[in-house]
Amino acid sequence: MHEIEERLAELERLGLSRRLRLVSGPQGPTVLLEGRPVLLLCSNNYLGLADHPRVREAAAAAAMRWGVGAGSSRLVSGTMTIHGRLEERLAEFEGSEACVLFGSGYLANIGVIGALAGGGDTIFSDELNHASIVDGCRLSRAEVVVYRHRDVEHLDWCFARHGRGRRLIVTDSVFSMDGDVAPLAEIAALADCYGARLMVDEAHATGSLGPGGRGAVAEAGLDGEIDVVVGTLGKALGSYGAYACASTEMVRYLLNTARSLIFSTAPPPPAVAGALAALDLLRERPHRVERLRSNARVLRRALAAEGFPVTDSEMQIVPLIVGEENAAMRLCQEAIEHGVFAQAIRPPTVPGGTSRLRLTVMASHTHSELELAAGVFGAAARRLGLAPEAMIAPPVERQESAAQLQAAGMSSDYGVEYFSSAPFDLERDGDLPEVAAAPASWSQEPFVPERERGAAEPDAAPAGTAAARLNAPFDLERELSGARAA
Ligand SMILES: Cc1ncc(COP(=O)(O)O)c(C=O)c1O
Repeated sequence: MHEIEERLAELERLGLSRRLRLVSGPQGPTVLLEGRPVLLLCSNNYLGLADHPRVREAAAAAAMRWGVGAGSSRLVSGTMTIHGRLEERLAEFEGSEACVLFGSGYLANIGVIGALAGGGDTIFSDELNHASIVDGCRLSRAEVVVYRHRDVEHLDWCFARHGRGRRLIVTDSVFSMDGDVAPLAEIAALADCYGARLMVDEAHATGSLGPGGRGAVAEAGLDGEIDVVVGTLGKALGSYGAYACASTEMVRYLLNTARSLIFSTAPPPPAVAGALAALDLLRERPHRVERLRSNARVLRRALAAEGFPVTDSEMQIVPLIVGEENAAMRLCQEAIEHGVFAQAIRPPTVPGGTSRLRLTVMASHTHSELELAAGVFGAAARRLGLAPEAMIAPPVERQESAAQLQAAGMSSDYGVEYFSSAPFDLERDGDLPEVAAAPASWSQEPFVPERERGAAEPDAAPAGTAAARLNAPFDLERELSGARAA
């Protein structure tokens, strides 16, 4: 067998093989899935704006006025008036000085992280951060310290032990696969204490959380206090593309250094115009955000009545954690056959052993649709012998899945602490998990949370002088001479 065939067969054997499913029509509450009418419960079109007539009309009008493509990258001839207009609007929306658009959230994350940390620097990254952050960390060549999910105590512990060069903390604000929210105020305080920069990815918070849907940063009262806030236009804002909001100086710096911005075509005018119209709608009708949250409550309540272990939250992302990969796939298929579509999510998107249906609510669902969907999942699970009560309650314990994925030639994003100062090496990192051996100081000193240490002394934070020494201030000259030398 050829290598690719072997790898595909291995993915099949592991229950990790994927395929595309064809949807007809726009991303509304109901769609035709491969010819079958289903209730759509896995789209990130949270506010129902992707299919809103005003958003569609704005995109169509922009295509007529500015054309379909931007023609080149932003720094060549691709910066058009409509880009500037959306950047102004987004800066205002995020309460920041300035904004710059990227082609997508994935591109924004790898571009911003690579601009803020490089070889000799240290990134502290939540273990359940999105793959685009994981990849940004890998590409940056910085040392990467993965801290436990939403665990500020562990993050503090990591700071006390690691941190050469510039230091960057990066976190999703609303986690994409669990829908839980990062403790941003505590993380920001820690960043301040250690003189580290903080980057927050609001992909799933924009439009779903905070005053007027302005996100988790605004909800936490941290407007203007985060070094870089990344958001995407492709989820609640119903379009495509992404943005980074920051100080004027930082945005100027990103324009000069973020490679995924410099070396990629500017976002297409219809997508930009669609996002502008979506922002208008969000401002005019903020009740859509409230509707999304009340819909999330309705779905959670109905799932709980079916016996599913759902958390008491108002977020629009509701995981039904089945565990085993094939079981999640069977539950997905069974629900489709009874008229509800929620895609099964498996490693490497989630840690091994935590495969799930990731349900996402839209403001455009009706309460009765959501109640009906909960009944379909409950009945489907019972028919398959998967008792809803026996499913895993979020948040999940992390599990080691790297070896299994490695066997199939995929890399795991989870369940490992990676700490690598080696430069990116395509042979090694492009294919296999880059789980470099932990340094002695890391492995010999296991982290013990304070609650488990009883009366023992808490880990002391590093003295201010050490933090000052480790966290050399950002030096543009050094950056540029490094780039010249490369
Ligand atoms: C947290 C997070 N950040 C970034 C992205 C990437 O955004 P985009 O789809 O715009 O590339 C996603 C996409 O799912 C995400 O969940």
